[in-house]
Amino acid sequence: MNKPVPVIAIDGPSASGKGTVAQRVATKLGFHYLDSGALYRIVALASQQAGIVWTDAEAVAQCAKNLRIRFDEEQVWLNDADVTNDIRSEAMGKGASQVAVHPAVRKVLTSLQQNMRRAPGLVADGRDMGTIIFPDAVLKIFLTASTEVRAQRRYQQLLAKQQTADYQAILQDLLERDARDKNRASAPLVMAEDGILLETDHLSIVEAVNQVLENY
Ligand code: C5P
Repeated sequence: MNKPVPVIAIDGPSASGKGTVAQRVATKLGFHYLDSGALYRIVALASQQAGIVWTDAEAVAQCAKNLRIRFDEEQVWLNDADVTNDIRSEAMGKGASQVAVHPAVRKVLTSLQQNMRRAPGLVADGRDMGTIIFPDAVLKIFLTASTEVRAQRRYQQLLAKQQTADYQAILQDLLERDARDKNRASAPLVMAEDGILLETDHLSIVEAVNQVLENY
């Protein structure tokens, strides 16, 4: 039998830096990269554009089913529109965590994510990559940092993009999203039993990338 395409799952809370780390690991290994959070963000955006409230599980799931999503290098496309920047807003982060609580929505996105598993390999970042979507991942990293450090990183990112930023509001927002992601019934944010914890409060991005690669 053919060996399955290897997957490296990198899960963790918002603003932990897992996106950057996952992307760099993928580049180093020449693997594909899946930003699963972008999918939930796209669903939030498309629902909003269609006038659907994020709490309406059935309508959001139906909307998700009909989307044409395309990842193209650094860009994300939704039905021929470049939504790369639109989905990165704090509002869409919040929306994503609201549509993500619905099992029907998660179900629609499951095969889409699994279909991105292509040779020579995939680095997938999200909340349930190692626990639900790719339970046979060869490496499962749970990448995290304290809430204060994550809020500080998000704050600095926004300032660097010349956007207005309010540290207390960001901290509050992260706490809310963490609580929603950890406490939901469907695919809650939790470290896989066979996962490796990577705490990044005192690690640079390069150090975190190296630690992931050392474990591979
Ligand atoms: O990773 P990112 O911050 O872009 O994810 C946005 C939201 O999407 C998360 O707060 C989470 O609620 C949801 N999400 C999820 N499962 C994933 C990826 C993201 O529920 N695999």
